[in-house]
Amino acid sequence: MQLFLDTTDVAVLKDMAATGLVDGVTTNPSLIAKSGRNMLDVIGEICAVVEGPVSAEVAAADTAGMLDEGRRLSTIAPNVVVKVPLTRDGLIATREFAREGILTNVTLCFSASQALLAAKAGASYISPFIGRLDDHGADGMDLITEIRTIYDNYGFDTEILAASIRTPAHVAQAAMVGADCATIPPDVFQALFKHPLTEKGLDQFLKDWAKTGQSIL
Ligand code: G3P
Repeated sequence: MQLFLDTTDVAVLKDMAATGLVDGVTTNPSLIAKSGRNMLDVIGEICAVVEGPVSAEVAAADTAGMLDEGRRLSTIAPNVVVKVPLTRDGLIATREFAREGILTNVTLCFSASQALLAAKAGASYISPFIGRLDDHGADGMDLITEIRTIYDNYGFDTEILAASIRTPAHVAQAAMVGADCATIPPDVFQALFKHPLTEKGLDQFLKDWAKTGQSIL
């Protein structure tokens, strides 16, 4: 499973990337707005920190505008993935990007039928939003399972990028039902390392080791 960070905070990204466990990054217009920075600058800096895919989202709502913006974004760095919304115009643009060899991440996916259309349009990644479906009273993980089944039934190459992750359990559950990737907010990524029994056990190990008076070096 590929683990991406869902962030535009370059300092936080550098810290997490130092673990060697960050395979890529996703961004969206809300995260760009939150950064208060120029989008093209931020994406360029992120692409310099990680070698893996970096999703940069178009702002246009029409196909022609998406194509113009996506072609511009793709020139920032070789690892830019153009993110487009799952709309009719977005999927028309996705098909053209596929023809041009530009990787795409089709985002704001909330149904299996939407995911089917995205795969047929040649999307490189599909981003089903687990947390927002949960917030809406549905079960976001069910959608991952449904998409996995459909994509496997027909051999679609589109990678399932579990998004709108809210907890470490979301990451584990998405892995169990076969998502190819998960994009994770930094605080949730940090939480993946932790378990109270690990901390308790390590504390006891170190206390017992101290009693031996030994040194390994
Ligand atoms: O960036 C795409 C997605 O992960 C955002 O999810 O619900 O946290 O805004 P959310």
